[in-house]
Amino acid sequence: MSINSATPVLSEESAVPVRTATKRTILMCKPQFFTVVYRINPWMDPALPTDTSLAVEQWQTLYDTYVGLGYDVQLIEPIDGLPDMVYAANGGFVIDNQAYGAKFTHVQRQPEGPAYMDWFGANGFDVRVPIETNEGEGDFLLVGDVILAGTGFRSDSNSHAELSIIAGRPVITLRLINPSFYHLDTAVAVLDDSNIAYLPSAFDAPSLAILQERYPDAIIVTEEDASILGLNSYSDGYNVVIAARAKDFEQQLRARGYNPIGVDLSELLLGGGGVKCCTLELRR
Ligand code: ARG
Repeated sequence: MSINSATPVLSEESAVPVRTATKRTILMCKPQFFTVVYRINPWMDPALPTDTSLAVEQWQTLYDTYVGLGYDVQLIEPIDGLPDMVYAANGGFVIDNQAYGAKFTHVQRQPEGPAYMDWFGANGFDVRVPIETNEGEGDFLLVGDVILAGTGFRSDSNSHAELSIIAGRPVITLRLINPSFYHLDTAVAVLDDSNIAYLPSAFDAPSLAILQERYPDAIIVTEEDASILGLNSYSDGYNVVIAARAKDFEQQLRARGYNPIGVDLSELLLGGGGVKCCTLELRR
């Protein structure tokens, strides 16, 4: 561009876009009974000690962060003997006031399905009892008007068709191939209605091709950031709550006009979960 041209110094391409936050309503579950006593993903090691009070303290920081952002944060009562209940994202998928319940893969988490469905029912949601195995927002992510859906480790691809009928929206199946990224929300972060971030190596070739085609401008995170579940983040369209240690992701978000907010959930990482896992969006 010539200095004398009338073109503004910041070209369209280099300008940082203006992002807009929308207020969210979410459901969380205090990790009062959190511990690691079984192993259903590679992050979990029952031989390693866990510190429940530290987990609660770190979770409280996340809760306070959401309240500070003006979100309406609802709580479900934790149940003794269900240590993974803190990962509320797995409790269902809620859209248009309909709550599609979860049906967990592993027997250890199966009682969580009805517990969350009871909460949805008691709180005015239209509960849709699942037939197919699925782990809620762990594997279902709404991006604008489509739902990205993970399979390979937890949610059965039949649940994708089931949800598509309930939600009346296209559901796009993505196959996960790395057991460390066993839920879609460990490999994809939704930033707003049209932007995502993801880890390419977590997907099989056809799924990666779908992501590349649909989201050519996506943020590609480093293996390093993904390896501390940096992608497991929650965005309101402007503020993006992420793992405090995901430094490259933080920079990439800032460069694109988002406001990354780091939170340390190291204790909950011992269970294989992060920010997003602790957060279930409630869409009335
Ligand atoms: N220990 C839990 C499990 O393996 C962690 C769930 C993490 N949740 C998530 N939405 N990725 O099921």
